[in-house]
Formats: sequence, C-alpha cells, structure tokens
Amino acid sequence: MRLFVAVNFGPDTRARLLALQEELRQRAEGGRFPPEENLHLTLAFLGECDETREAAAKSALDRLRFAPLKLSVDRVGRFARPGGEIWWAGLAPSPPLQTLQGSLVRLLGQEGFSLEPRPFSPHITLGREVRTQTLPWRTEAFGEMADAVWLMRSERLGGRMVYTPAHRRGATDGPEGG
Ligand code: 2AM
Repeated sequence: MRLFVAVNFGPDTRARLLALQEELRQRAEGGRFPPEENLHLTLAFLGECDETREAAAKSALDRLRFAPLKLSVDRVGRFARPGGEIWWAGLAPSPPLQTLQGSLVRLLGQEGFSLEPRPFSPHITLGREVRTQTLPWRTEAFGEMADAVWLMRSERLGGRMVYTPAHRRGATDGPEGG
C-alpha cells in the first residue's frame, strides 16, 4: 500500500474547496478532478510501504507535538508537469505549518524514511492534467483550525483513488499518543 500524511478538512472548508474546483473546471477545457472526499493537504508522501513501515510511520506520528494551527487558502495555482498541469488551492504562508511539516519529516527520518528533499509547498490538488488558458488567481481567504494530522492509505480500487485514514495524531495528544 502507499502511505502519506495529510490534514483532512471539515465540511465547510471542503465546500469552499469544491467551489474553487468548480470554478477551475469551468475555466478548463479538460482535466481530471478528484472527488470531494479526496481533497486534502499532504504533509509527507511515504510511497509504497509494508506493515512494518506502516507501524514505523504511526510511531513517528505518535511523537509529533503541535498546537492547533490556522490554515488559510488564498489562491489557486499550478505546477507544470510533463504529464499535464496540476492545479491546486494554495495555502497562505504559515510558519507553524512549515514547523509542523519539518518536525514530521524529522521524525519520519528517525524511523528510516527518506523523503523527497524538495521544499514543502502546501497545496490541495484540485485537478490533474488540466488543460486551460486561465492564469493562477487569488481568492478571498478561507480555512479552519487544524487540530489533527492523519496517516492515510492510498489505493487504486476499480480505477479510482481511494484514501483511507489509518492513524490519527491530534494536536492535544500526549507523548504516548494517547
Ligand atoms: P499531490 O496532491 O500534489 O498530487 C497521495 O498521492 C498524496 O500524496 C497526494 O496529495 C500527492 O500530492 C502526494 N504526493 C506527493 N508526492 C507524491 C508522489 N511522488 N507520488 C504520488 N503522490 C505524491
């Protein structure tokens, strides 16, 4: 199975993200647009893992300490990729979010995970292989307080990507993860 660590959003933020995705879809000639339940903020991508590595990832998460943090989406942007453009909702710069992601990467490193060293560019993917003439745009800021991060399983089932929560680490959880 493939694993990643993410922040999942509540219904209000999801609804706003869906509205942005719809705006993008209207501005595009084509693309693949993930369903609402797949919209998330990835903090770390762990790739293919067996059960031993999954346990190691849980153990790293259980040592993560962080306070609830404000996440604010304020723009729509893109990454140019050989396979087509990826369009996303971008987060406003947040030192606590960068710190949280840095701590997570360090703890995962202690468990033997070597992650892609590219800088963390916090985004929520809205569309892949998007064909559009539109340019990135800024939006009225919206978001929520995040109080948990999740270890997620990623599987392709019947041609669809299905993401399943595997483990939760809350902002108020203690050193033992309890
Ligand atoms: P993306 O949204 O930018 O595509 C599950 O695949 C999550 O892990 C996605 O949010 C994806 O980010 C992220 N991810 C990061 N690096 C990845 C990689 N090399 N392959 C697949 N997914 C990756």
